[in-house]
Amino acid sequence: MLIVGNQKTYLNKNSVLAFINQTKDFKQDGVVICPSYLYIDLFCNNSNFVVGSQNVSENESSSMTGEITAGQLSSMNVKYCIVGHSERREYQREDTTMFVNKIKCLIKCNIIPIFCVGEQKIDKENNLTKDIVGKQILEVLSNFAGNDIKNIVIAYEPVWAIGTGLVPTNEEIIDVVNYIKDLISDKFGINLLVLYGGSVNKKNISLLNQISSIDGYLIGGASTKVDEFLYIVSECSK
Ligand code: 13P
Repeated sequence: MLIVGNQKTYLNKNSVLAFINQTKDFKQDGVVICPSYLYIDLFCNNSNFVVGSQNVSENESSSMTGEITAGQLSSMNVKYCIVGHSERREYQREDTTMFVNKIKCLIKCNIIPIFCVGEQKIDKENNLTKDIVGKQILEVLSNFAGNDIKNIVIAYEPVWAIGTGLVPTNEEIIDVVNYIKDLISDKFGINLLVLYGGSVNKKNISLLNQISSIDGYLIGGASTKVDEFLYIVSECSK
């Protein structure tokens, strides 16, 4: 199981220090925290979490004011990086070309991209989930050779489930996760890890864990609350 906490912009410095302090005895493989860029160094130096980034520059150049490059992340010991999150698609207008560029930079620096895909509510209502998710995946992965694709992790995050408390039924998740796995295996002959993300919390984790085809979770809000996050991690270790 790969459990990834995406702490977004939730925490300020004092709450990050408290989070690190309250988790100082935590030690378990396969648990990643993606803090704000500002706190990557704090997590790398003071916690046992594997550290990921929420974003990366699409350029590797050394003159990109205000950006953070994959090379810089790698030099901080960052192991994973989220790409294609719906919040960046929506608020930063990021698109397929940028995702491809970012993933290329990350792979060059041996950082594992966690590529997020997911449908909007309207797509779901129109029965277009698989069309949308399939297109998002193929548009990006078709720019890579198999050797690179095998280093990518996919996160299925229905946009309407992010931060809303709404979660698809287990049957719906199984259907989409299996579709994603079959699509990638048919097109590229590769089996990739697929995470689920969207309102994962302490109340629904044991139900979600009944889905054997999920390889882990991408967790937003609940990853900022120590007790809840550690409870989810312990449920996933059973
Ligand atoms: P929530 O867990 O807060 O719904 O956020 C999910 C998410 O966007 C993780 O990347």
